[in-house]
Amino acid sequence: MGAPYDLQTQGKIERYHQTMKNAIKLHHDFFLWELEASLQDFVAYYNDERHHEVLDNVSPADAYFGWKYTVVSEPKKIKKRTMRKRQKEYLATKAAQVAIKNCLLAGRSDSMYRSSHPLNGFDALAPLYDHLARWVFGGAILRAQRSQLQTLEESKNLLFIGGGSGEVLAELLRSSPELKVTYIDASSAMIARAQARLSPPELQRVTWVHATHEILLEPSHTQQRYDGVLTYFFLDCLRPDELLTLIDALEPRIRRWSLVDFVPQTRWWARHLITFMYLCSALTTDLPNRRLSPVPDWLKERGWRATRESSFARGLISAATFERPPD
Ligand SMILES: C[S@@+](CC[C@H](N)C(=O)[O-])C[C@H]1O[C@@H](n2cnc3c(N)ncnc32)[C@H](O)[C@@H]1O
Repeated sequence: MGAPYDLQTQGKIERYHQTMKNAIKLHHDFFLWELEASLQDFVAYYNDERHHEVLDNVSPADAYFGWKYTVVSEPKKIKKRTMRKRQKEYLATKAAQVAIKNCLLAGRSDSMYRSSHPLNGFDALAPLYDHLARWVFGGAILRAQRSQLQTLEESKNLLFIGGGSGEVLAELLRSSPELKVTYIDASSAMIARAQARLSPPELQRVTWVHATHEILLEPSHTQQRYDGVLTYFFLDCLRPDELLTLIDALEPRIRRWSLVDFVPQTRWWARHLITFMYLCSALTTDLPNRRLSPVPDWLKERGWRATRESSFARGLISAATFERPPD
């Protein structure tokens, strides 16, 4: 029934009858009870199932009972999630292409470079790494790295070794607009992830080097000077003798060294937690012998001074920036 004195609602009802007739006439109902059943089916379909464009694509029942927003928001959320996923995949593919190009460039300009460490050992761990780190240590890994950014703010060019998926790299670039970074990592999958986090102008401020740390020992690289070097959870990938060689090679070329690492533990639960992390990385990488070396002590013995030292995750992680003694 239309509202009294309102011809428009009459028109709407007649339009409804037209839709109903178009649907009902498709059936051949031979008995009255068959026609009644067809009408009931149509009304149920029309009110409860059919999505009406004028009602923002929900059924009249959803609109009438106020379910519209739950019904509409779910597909919208799914759509948003899908768009985000597609965008990430697109960026990762683009980034992987850049990584491969840079890898070729690195290979060409450093034809003398020989590595005893495997390339891409961390590729299998790359998609899991950030989730695993967050799951085991909450946000402590990232918080520890962030705590050092202030000490690097005035730097113009930094060397980042073993930066991995680059969670902190984007923040580092945003905190110092003038900064340029040389980013060395042995895993192309990690590099691709780091690149996917950056905007095109930020990507240009980074020199991507898909290589192991040994490239820094090559004669073509020993002339290069940096304001500082960042090594976050990377030094335990190297043996003590390799670390000492790296320190010798970098010491004359840098003024600051920002270090974030696990701390050797005596507490049983902490030892188990670190062993668990290393076990996960041993299962997915080809670096089974990860071990913590006392690099901060070595730097202190050489006269380096620690600034902004702090510890995280109940003493499991230590972060500090060391300054080289004046020449
Ligand atoms: C444990 S992850 C740390 C990643 C990141 N710095 C973080 O804190 O989340 C170690 C990273 O170092 C890289 N890596 C391992 N051995 C390397 C080497 N000899 N030279 C350069 N990178 C290396 C791995 O590919 C990986 O991305």
